[in-house]
Formats: sequence, C-alpha cells, structure tokens
Amino acid sequence: MADTFHNQDPKFHQGKILEHESDGIQEFDNPMPFWWSAIFWLTIGFAYVYFTYFVIGVGASVQREYQVDLGVFYQEQFGKLGELKPIPATILKLSSDPKMMKAAQGLYSANCVVCHAADGGGLTGPNLCDNEYINVKNVEDIFKVVSVGIVSKGMPQWSNRFSEPQLVLLTSYVAHLRGTTPAAPKAPQGVSIPPWITK
Ligand code: HEC
Repeated sequence: MADTFHNQDPKFHQGKILEHESDGIQEFDNPMPFWWSAIFWLTIGFAYVYFTYFVIGVGASVQREYQVDLGVFYQEQFGKLGELKPIPATILKLSSDPKMMKAAQGLYSANCVVCHAADGGGLTGPNLCDNEYINVKNVEDIFKVVSVGIVSKGMPQWSNRFSEPQLVLLTSYVAHLRGTTPAAPKAPQGVSIPPWITK
C-alpha cells in the first residue's frame, strides 16, 4: 500500500537514516536549522551573563532601582516643602496635596490596612473616615497616636519604624481620610470632634 501519510519527496528528507529502529519506525537525521540552534545557544549564554551580573554581581535589581527612584521622589517632594514638622499647617497642607497623598498611600497600604482597612473604614482598628475619634481632639493628636501608639489597645508604636517626615506624611494621610466614604464603615467609636483647624 502506498504511503500517503509520509512525505515521499526525496528532497524533503535530506539527512541519512539513523541506525536505530523501534516497532518498525526509523528516523531521519534531520538536524535543527543553524539559525534555530544559534538562538538556542545564545539564550543559554545570555542566561549565564545575566545571572552572573544581576544575581551574583553588581547589577541593580528592579526592586533596588525602584527604591532608589522612590527615595529620589521623596527627597524632591520634601525638598519642596522644607523639613516636615508635625504642626497643623504642614499636616493640612500635605493632606490637600494629591501627589503627597499618593506617596503617603504607599506607607499606609503597607502598614495600616490590616487593622484600619484599605479605605480607612476600620477593621480591628477604628474607622478613620468619620468624625468620631477616641484619642484625637485635633490634627496634631494623630501624629502623637501614630508615633507613640496605644500599645495596650492594640495600636502599634510607629516612631521606631519611621522617620519624623514619614510620620508627618502618615498623619496627613489619616487627616485626609476624614470625610471620605469607606465601603464598609465600622460603627463610630469615641466622640465627635470639630473639623481640623490650622491653629
Ligand atoms: C495591629 C492593628 C493596627 C495597626 C497595624 C494600625 N493600627 Fe491604628 N489603631 C489600632 C487600634 C486597635 C486603635 C484604637 C486604639 C484605642 O482603642 O484607643 C487604633 C487607633 C488609631 C488612631 C486613632 C483613632 C482614634 O479614634 O483615636 C489612628 C490615627 C491610627 N490608629 C492610625 C494608624 C496608622 C496611620 C497606622 C499605620 C501606620 C495604624 N494605625 C496601624 C490598631 C492598629
């Protein structure tokens, strides 16, 4: 019976037939095209160079480059504002600056959401969006609470983790959450306080 399944064109099989045979099947020795093998060996070579430089050697990782960029960004932002002091004028000025709030959101997301929720609505920690506060009478009090914590009630102390400018940034972020509408607000705790004032 004619073999219609295999390509019978003699030009198609340029290699010689290999020695081995299994279940009556024989193989032609058709090597991969040169360009294909060349790319294959190049990728292996590249992997060695890449690994040696970036993983073992001095090449900067993506994370490190990001950290450096972020550091430069913060420096530029702080440079514009001067030193960040925990005074109401600075805190409230920051809290109305969308760019600074973007930067502050990074700190908040990484450290506060487990207890206060991503939108500040509160979980084990209180809702930070409403007008009721337990330990806060004015905007500077936020700085105190965040710095020192209320350790006995489960609010950690953050002054050993963050520099003063970072604490001021977090304070302004909390101040800016007030008046926003969280998805699942926790019931108010503490007493209602007047709006933030600069003095
Ligand atoms: C492990 C849980 C936890 C984490 C993490 C946490 N908090 Fe709290 N936080 C609490 C608890 C609990 C309270 C309430 C303390 C009390 O009952 O007096 C609180 C209170 C506060 C208050 C005062 C609210 C009020 O009504 O008096 C502020 C402001 C605050 N947290 C900000 C932050 C910020 C900013 C971060 C991140 C840097 C943070 N918290 C991280 C648990 C946490």
